[in-house]
Order: sequence, then structure tokens, then C-alpha cells
Amino acid sequence: MSVRIRSPRPRAVPIALIAAVLGLLGATALAQPAVARANTLTVATNGDDDNPGTLSAPLRTLQHAVDLAAPGTVIQIRGGVYAPEANVQINKDGEPGDPITMTAYRGEHVVIDGENMPYTPGELDGSIPRPDRGALHVEGDWWVFRDLEIIHGPYGIFCMNCNDNVFDRLVTRDNYESGLHLFLESGGNLIRNLDSYGNFDPRNNGESADGLAIKEGSGEGNVVRGARLWNNVDDGFDSWEFTSPILIEDSVAWGNGFDRWGFPDFQGDGNGFKLGRGADTATHTVRDSIAFGNAQHGIIDNGNPASMLIEHNTAWDNAETGFVFDRSTSTLNGNLSVGNATAVSLGSSGGSGNSWDVKDDWSDADLISTDTAAITGPRRPDGSIPATDFLRPQGHSDLGADFSDNDDDDDDGGGATEPGRYEAEGASADCDGTIDADHAGFSGSGFCNTDNRTGAFAQFTVDAPESGTATLEIRFANGGGDGRPAQVSVNGAEAGSIPFDATDGWTDWSTATVTVSLDAGGDTVRLVATGSGGLPNIDYLEVAAD
Ligand code: GCU
Ligand code: CA
Repeated sequence: MSVRIRSPRPRAVPIALIAAVLGLLGATALAQPAVARANTLTVATNGDDDNPGTLSAPLRTLQHAVDLAAPGTVIQIRGGVYAPEANVQINKDGEPGDPITMTAYRGEHVVIDGENMPYTPGELDGSIPRPDRGALHVEGDWWVFRDLEIIHGPYGIFCMNCNDNVFDRLVTRDNYESGLHLFLESGGNLIRNLDSYGNFDPRNNGESADGLAIKEGSGEGNVVRGARLWNNVDDGFDSWEFTSPILIEDSVAWGNGFDRWGFPDFQGDGNGFKLGRGADTATHTVRDSIAFGNAQHGIIDNGNPASMLIEHNTAWDNAETGFVFDRSTSTLNGNLSVGNATAVSLGSSGGSGNSWDVKDDWSDADLISTDTAAITGPRRPDGSIPATDFLRPQGHSDLGADFSDNDDDDDDGGGATEPGRYEAEGASADCDGTIDADHAGFSGSGFCNTDNRTGAFAQFTVDAPESGTATLEIRFANGGGDGRPAQVSVNGAEAGSIPFDATDGWTDWSTATVTVSLDAGGDTVRLVATGSGGLPNIDYLEVAAD
């Protein structure tokens, strides 16, 4: 159909026929969202495990959905609280480029509550058998976990021997051990925009529950971006005895290590980011991150002997030392330490351009803002941390972490959106498929991956400042080998087409443009696949007035 519409001799096709074909396409597209796709499994609190797992006949349990999943399956969970009596065992793998996804259904609020599971909490000084660790116990590779809240578990998520997974926009709070824990041979995992707080371990009087732990193991390529780790009983982040490099950026840790639970023999530590004990090979990098108001130190090597890179971070108002790197041979550049009991302890670590290299007497008067409201407040719809001047220095703009000017092009945790840009994963867009993040180079926190079928769509509600023609620029990647043509409609009316030619793979992003007329105010722009390949992966749509 699309071939005829875009034929070099369009006059051979009567207008009425084109209109009829487009009408049909429109109808198909509208009918699609209600129909679950073959590789989609829906779970709902009113479901039944004898159901097929469609939207209208959903499954009841997460475990059954996991048992049915195969590479490419999307487990979409309807809003509500799920409180199974056994933890969810995830012991199968997706595939490279074809992960298994477990996600909230279209932004609905999903809570996985571990309170009914064993070891919530475990007995004092006892240990938790490994398979019982984690409300979600993951031993799989190539999974994407997105938009889920995990509470009261025997650990929130416990991931052991798990590789190449994405943990995106998760909340892990008030668990009876660490919120999210990677363990043993675990590499290639991306942890993005995690909020992990209030985790505590009565079993150990607070000795070991961190917000995020990547501990006692190895594996290259673990990345933490845009995490907020607060009010945990032990540390915000801890990489105790993890011997491979970890990258942490655009993250914030505060208020860790205080006894908020009245433990009889309190053992919590209270560092923002704790980077040891490791090995020479544990050359972690921490950059553009903030540690404030922790019970002990801001960022500490903790006996890790490696040469780590600590750049453009800020430590403020921690009860002990801002930066403790006296047992490693690390390089510290451009860091800012203000209002801690001691600014820095360097030992044989070095570096340059830090606040302590500039002058000695730093105080709150040197800061533009100490207002925590934005950095600790709600995330933006795309999951990023709101832009804020929090702890930016007056002058000396090359010092410290900077959340004030994050842009969304670098896949970081924060960022003000470009004017006129609508991310496919954002609140004003609707993706007839899944929001994925497995092909690098996208902006914001993900892209829309529709199914491979005619009628699959991505829709954007855009705001035109005035009526008239506007150019829509759509960023996409098409590694499918062939064109993925689409019709464009505005407010339900046909408005053009885009061939979406093949690009050089799924990480090769390109832009296509189409000129349309928009009404002032909200317009609905829909891209509908006219070929059986579906749409290419769609990153964003930008509107430029002509
Ligand atoms: C692969 C790729 C996806 C893409 C899909 C497709 O599975 O990883 O990102 O959307 O192919 O062909 O549409
Ligand atoms: Ca696709």
C-alpha cells in the first residue's frame, strides 16, 4: 500500500482510493493498542494465571509471566500492589538486542511488596540463603527492568551472576537489606535513574544495607547514572570487594548511616559513595556526583588500593571528611568540598584544580544554593533529576558537580530538554511498543521500539506556538536493513509520509523531516508504520516553526 501511495505516478491512484486506504490504516492503528501482542504478557492484580496474558485477560503473578517469557517478551504490569509469598525467581536470559523486559504498563504505579516473603527480616546475626535474597532474585542476563517500585523485600533486587541488564527508573525502598545488589560475576549492567532509600537490616543492626551495592564480585562495564541513594542505614553506594571498574556519574547520596530505626547496637556506617575494599583492578570512576549530609564521609576509597578517577564531584556537610583517598593512588580533579568536618584526606593520591587547591576557607557563603528541594524532589517525567543550582559554587564554575545545565543529549541522569523536543519516552508521547534503552546514542532516557507490524505507531502531543506550517524533525535508527515507511497524521488527518530509510545499524541515529500544518495549542502527531517491519526505533520528535 505504501508503495502505491509513494509511487512516482501518484495521479494513477484516485484520491478517493488513497483516502480509503489511509482511513483503513488509521482504523487499524486505533484498534491496535487494545490488543496485546504475541510477545507481550500482561499481569494484573485481578488477573488469573490460566489466562493468556493479554490486556483483557491478564495473568495474576509475576512468576508465571517470567516462566512464560522468552527473548523479546515484554512483561507489562498493571498498576497495583503485588505481594507474593515467595520471591520472584528470574533464572532465564534474554538475548543481545532482544532483552526480556519487565515494566509497569504505560506509567501505571506498580509496587512489588516483599513483606510476605521469608527473611523480612531474617533473624539477628543469621544469614539469608542466596536464592531467598531479593524480592526479585535475578540470575539472568539481557533483562530490562523499568518503572517498578520494590519494597520490604529480603533485599529489593538481588542480582547474582547477572550480566548486560538495564535497571531503569526503579524505586527500591524500605527493604530488609540493600535496595539493589549486584553480586559475583556481574558485568555490563546499566543502572539508570534509581531511587533507593530507607533500606535497613535489623538482622545486622544496620551493618550492611546500602542503597546500591555492587559487592563481592567482578565484571567489567557496570554503569550507574542518575541514581539517588538516601537515608539508608549503611552507605549510599558500596563496592566492597568488587574488583572490576565501575562508572558512577550524575548521582547523589545523602543522609545515609543514621539510626532512624532505634537499633539496639547500631552498626550503620554512613558514607555517600564507598569505593572499596577492592584490588588494583578496581579502578572506579566517580564524576559529577554529590554526597551530602551523610553520617560519615562523602566519597571514600575504603582501602581500595586502585588508581581511581574522582572528577567534578561535590561533598557538602558530611559529618566527617569530604573526600578520603588516603589508602589508594587516585586522581582527584575539579572536586568541591564545603562544610565537611575535614575537606580532604589525600595520602598519596593527587590531582589538581580541586577546591582545596584553590583556597582553604570554603563555606556555605561560597555556594549559590543549599536548597535541597529540587535535588531531592520529584523526578522529571523522563526519569531525570531536575536541573538545579544546588551546591554550585559562586564563581569557580569548573569546580564540583553540576546539575544546573544537564542537557539530554548525553544520556545522563538529568537534563533540560531542548525547546520543542518531545522525547518518545516522555509524558507527552505514546509508544505502541516498548521504551527501550539497549542501543546507545539516543537522547533522554530511551527510545520507542514498536513491534514489527503494519499499524504500529508512535504518537506525540505537541504544542505549536501559532497556527501554520511547521517542520517536524524525527530522530530514528533503523538497523533493520530495509526502509520502514510511515504515514504522518496530525489530529487524525493525513499529513505526509516518511520513508525512514535504513541506517547503519541500531546505534546509528539519523533524522528525517516532514512539513505539516499545526493548529495553535496541542496537536496530536502520529507516525504509523505502513510496512510489516513496523516503525524504526524513534528517539524524539522536534517541532520547528517555519
Ligand atoms: C531489534 C532491535 C530493536 C528493533 C527491532 C526491530 O530487535 O534490537 O531495537 O526495534 O530489532 O527490528 O524493529
Ligand atoms: Ca521494533
